[in-house]
Amino acid sequence: MCLLHGALLPLFLHVSLLSCSAWAKVELTMHESVEVYLGDTAEIPCLYNFTDANNKPSFVIIQWFVRSPGDTSRKRFFYSDNQQAIVDPNTNYTGRIEMHNRQGSRLKVKNVQLSDERDFICQINGLAAGNAEGRTQLRVFAPPEAPVIEGVLTGISVTNDLPSKIASCEARNGFPKPNITWYRNGVALMPATGHVNVLTLVTLKPSDFYTVQSTLEYKVVKEDMDAQFSCEVSYFVPEAIRTAESPKVNVIIHYPTTMVELWKESPQGLVKEGDTVELRCQGDGNPPSPFIFNREQEPDVELASSGDVLILSPVSRKDSGLYQCRPQHDDGGHAEVKGEVQLTVHYLDPAVVVPKDSEVMYKDEELTATCNALSSLKTSTVWYKDGMKVGEGNTLHLHAATYETSGEYICEVTVPSLPSLHTSGSVHIIVQGSPQLVGVEQETQLEEATGRMVNLSCEAQGHPLPSISWNIVGSQSWQEVETKANEHVTHSVVSVKVTSDISAQCNASNDMGTEVKAFSIKAIPRVTTTAPFSPAEGSGVIIVVIILCLLVLAVLGSVVYFLHKKGKIPCGRSGKQEITKEKTTKDDIVVEMKNNAKNEEAVLLKAVNGDKKGPSEQ
Ligand SMILES: *[C@@H]1O[C@H](CO)[C@@H](O)[C@H](O)[C@H]1NC(C)=O
Ligand SMILES: *[C@@H]1O[C@H](CO)[C@@H](O)[C@H](O)[C@H]1NC(C)=O
Ligand SMILES: *[C@@H]1O[C@H](CO)[C@@H](O)[C@H](O)[C@H]1NC(C)=O
Ligand SMILES: *[C@@H]1O[C@H](CO)[C@@H](O)[C@H](O)[C@H]1NC(C)=O
Ligand SMILES: *[C@@H]1O[C@H](CO)[C@@H](O)[C@H](O)[C@H]1NC(C)=O
Repeated sequence: MCLLHGALLPLFLHVSLLSCSAWAKVELTMHESVEVYLGDTAEIPCLYNFTDANNKPSFVIIQWFVRSPGDTSRKRFFYSDNQQAIVDPNTNYTGRIEMHNRQGSRLKVKNVQLSDERDFICQINGLAAGNAEGRTQLRVFAPPEAPVIEGVLTGISVTNDLPSKIASCEARNGFPKPNITWYRNGVALMPATGHVNVLTLVTLKPSDFYTVQSTLEYKVVKEDMDAQFSCEVSYFVPEAIRTAESPKVNVIIHYPTTMVELWKESPQGLVKEGDTVELRCQGDGNPPSPFIFNREQEPDVELASSGDVLILSPVSRKDSGLYQCRPQHDDGGHAEVKGEVQLTVHYLDPAVVVPKDSEVMYKDEELTATCNALSSLKTSTVWYKDGMKVGEGNTLHLHAATYETSGEYICEVTVPSLPSLHTSGSVHIIVQGSPQLVGVEQETQLEEATGRMVNLSCEAQGHPLPSISWNIVGSQSWQEVETKANEHVTHSVVSVKVTSDISAQCNASNDMGTEVKAFSIKAIPRVTTTAPFSPAEGSGVIIVVIILCLLVLAVLGSVVYFLHKKGKIPCGRSGKQEITKEKTTKDDIVVEMKNNAKNEEAVLLKAVNGDKKGPSEQ
């Protein structure tokens, strides 16, 4: 490829003027320069004509020369005239050129080398018709390889007084010399004394190629820790300037600690005794420095820590206090920077219950128990007895103690703001008192048919546990059939055979006293019937009535006989009689006979007639 550079017209005028002044017969036009990539083919035209129409040359010599920059001598590499065209042997162009004679002389240089960057001179000689020569500079371009950037890997301190090396950049094998520009976050860095220095080293290697190395020296500030540096290589190509950017690099900025922070990393929330506490210290310096930990009250005692963490395990209330940390090395920052944190270790001491262990109190007495657990936080106390909540707060009032008041009282102390803190205590309350019998207020009066067994039951509360004894008058046959006792209740049952009226006493006693409960059992004679009341039964009753009438008649007969003998009539009698009738299918009927003989019959008849709704048992 071949591109033209420069305007044809001005050159034409210039050459024309020269030509006119010298010979005024030949017009010759050449490009000022021709630009071409390395290895391409360059085409350099040399256009001419003879202006004097009356004097057309019969013989024209065309010669091409090259002249190196800064060299006055030139070297011919082509010659032609009307008869011949010769490429000079043993030149750099022998075998590399082509010449075309259409509209002048057109030179083609193949496989352009860097050394071809020189002036090509075309000389036209028409002898008497005049002569002229022109010149084209051939410019060769080789784009450099992509730029290679290398950031400084070690940290760069902001405390350095002079700009420090940040990175180097290399653009290899370009032609002509490429330029390197530095960028920070996309903004070009212009050299500025004390802030930005750019050192450039240009080498020609392997032969005529330029390799440009640029080193950026820059005075870093803390903000540069996030900055991205890059270099850009700019290079000429035919008719244009191109650029290629390097990857971006970061540099490590070292800056002193200006602020230190200390905080409790764990546990979250409130700290209690036994916890493992982790305090972490952090400064804003880079690189992060190790820290020295101490307590405020002992500034010179260094606490054993690992780097930026201080572990206290397990903590006690003595560990409460103000903790401090400061950078270990003076990294150029303020010497006095330090972090502080207040550590409060909460605690809950074992509960102290008053009265201690166990307490004996008298029945109907009062007692106030207290439960106290020392804590750094507000506590909450709840009292329990037999799994039931019986009180709140650290005092428990027991009013008018009964035997039920006895038992184990547990106080649970919790810390609402730190639920993992809790403790408990207990007191055993024993209520002491004389025996108390259930239902002692009134005498138990019973009526029972003679011959039956009656169970008398007696339950006595008391502490110490009462013992029960029985005193039974009126029965020859009785025995204790059941006896049981728990902590403060004794229970006794006696089975008594009713033989006659019975008076019984249950005597409950302990060290504190005695209580007696009285029972009285009225024995009732039994009346039994032999047959049920049925139509058949009626005849039975009639028989009884007849027998009774016969008996009465017999008695009356004997009385009459007696009076007849003695001449006296006796007065009426009084008494109680029991008539028992046995029934096989019905319950016993007990009929009490009153002392009036007339009523006897009436009651009896009533009982007989009202059988169906008569008393079933007495
Ligand atoms: C040659 O002459 C012609 C006619 O006069 C003119 O148009 C042309 O520009 C000239 N060419 C050069 C290269 O001077
Ligand atoms: C080719 O060009 C180079 C550089 O200009 C020169 O040193 C060398 O002598 C030339 N070779 C010939 C054969 O002219
Ligand atoms: C390189 O820098 C110089 C000086 O600033 C400038 O003249 C030239 O055009 C630049 N070259 C490129 C390829 O940018
Ligand atoms: C009396 O008590 C004993 C023992 O509890 C029992 O076996 C018996 O049946 C009871 N007698 C009466 C008449 O209730
Ligand atoms: C009850 O028993 C106790 C002890 O056995 C005795 O001292 C006391 O006199 C008894 N009381 C009665 C009313 O029987």
